[in-house]
Amino acid sequence: MKKISIFSLFSLGFVACMQHEADLSAYNCSSTIPTYTADIQPIMTTHCTNCHGASNPSDGLDLSTYTNVKEHVQHARFWGSLEHKSKYEAMPKNAAKLPDSVLTKIACWAKNGSPQ
Ligand code: HEC
Repeated sequence: MKKISIFSLFSLGFVACMQHEADLSAYNCSSTIPTYTADIQPIMTTHCTNCHGASNPSDGLDLSTYTNVKEHVQHARFWGSLEHKSKYEAMPKNAAKLPDSVLTKIACWAKNGSPQ
């Protein structure tokens, strides 16, 4: 019995690790649909591109272009960092977690097909 439960836990953990898509279902997007130019780019410029800019980006992660940000907002790693989840490096590094209103903007942008 004990063996089986340890095995189940292991399998669950394995499945969890295979899951790399971000789960944004908790964000409520009833109000506005953010756009990259009006909403997302300014957030990145204020909080991220000092370190994740085009030249020599931290961790090889360049968040200064539409294409890159559009791709990374789909990843569980990006959200793990922004939501300060365990097992991820908390971002913005050495700063407070971004306000929920800002996270909601980014999430709703991602959920609505990342309009430019
Ligand atoms: C002060 C510099 C700095 C700022 C600002 C910053 N980062 Fe980072 N980021 C880093 C460094 C350095 C790493 C490499 C991991 C580490 O050393 O913490 C990293 C790693 C990451 C990772 C990978 C984390 C992991 O667990 O693998 C993501 C995703 C990320 N940053 C996203 C962001 C986002 C989004 C913002 C803006 C909200 C941001 N970062 C702001 C420096 C920064």
